[in-house]
Amino acid sequence: MCAAVLVIGSANADLVVPVDHRPAGGETVLGGDTVLSPGGKGANTAVAAGRLGASVALLGAVGPDAYGTLLRDSLTGAGVSLDHLRTVDRPTGIAYITVTPDGENSILVSPGANSALSPSDITDAALSGASVVVLSLEVPLATVSHAVSRAAASGATVLLNLSPAALLPTETLSAVDVLLVNEHEAAYLLGSTSADLTGLLALGPRAAVVTLGARGAVVITPEGPTSVASPTVRALDTTGAGDAFAGALAASLASGLSLTEAAHRAAAVAAVSVTRAGAQPSYPTAAEVF
Ligand code: RIB
Ligand code: NA
Repeated sequence: MCAAVLVIGSANADLVVPVDHRPAGGETVLGGDTVLSPGGKGANTAVAAGRLGASVALLGAVGPDAYGTLLRDSLTGAGVSLDHLRTVDRPTGIAYITVTPDGENSILVSPGANSALSPSDITDAALSGASVVVLSLEVPLATVSHAVSRAAASGATVLLNLSPAALLPTETLSAVDVLLVNEHEAAYLLGSTSADLTGLLALGPRAAVVTLGARGAVVITPEGPTSVASPTVRALDTTGAGDAFAGALAASLASGLSLTEAAHRAAAVAAVSVTRAGAQPSYPTAAEVF
């Protein structure tokens, strides 16, 4: 199958524990019951795009274990092609997540199988037919850089979700069409003193989208910045909201919408996702949002 959206990235089992506050060093905190749910920035993005009806594939790696099966089932349920999802001899990635009553999360990732994703996995077969290629950074950065250059050469629109924040070579950022960052990642790239988000384009991408949580997003192109509002909602769990935004942005770009129109839809999808628990289980279908 040739998918219009190819997502290259991680798949994790999320072990989510509600807590009143997070343990400090040396401290023991009792939390609520653990909830297991499918996650990982790559798989989340693919599921978000798939639920909206896009033709999408995930290029990634899981382990030969129950968590790998959990992820395959979730992806398949959202219509995501598994043709480029490898099973490798490492444990499936696990994210240990605490969620506080305000809906804020903190995440510790053990990448496991995701670490095995190598440049040789970025095949012509996977790239062929993809009009949008989406990447995030829970897989080896050398693989990401290789994939960005291959995807750009193939003529696809390259969307890089710089999460978790990392430094990439200038030549990689210069091959990116749309750089997607949250406020923290933007500050990381620009130096925390800079409030001028238009400086992101000086790093190389053709355009950038900065997500601002409840305040929506800003789309930055050479013509200048455009604000995109977010529907007002009550946040229950923000885990994976950025990935929902990325998946919806990719699906909307693949369907021919402009970047600003796509960001409007992505903000609406992300807003729904924060009202429900977990990452993938919280992502809406198109009929629920539009
Ligand atoms: O972005 C949210 C995701 O980050 C979670 O699903 C978790 O798996 C970590 O990868
Ligand atoms: Na959610």
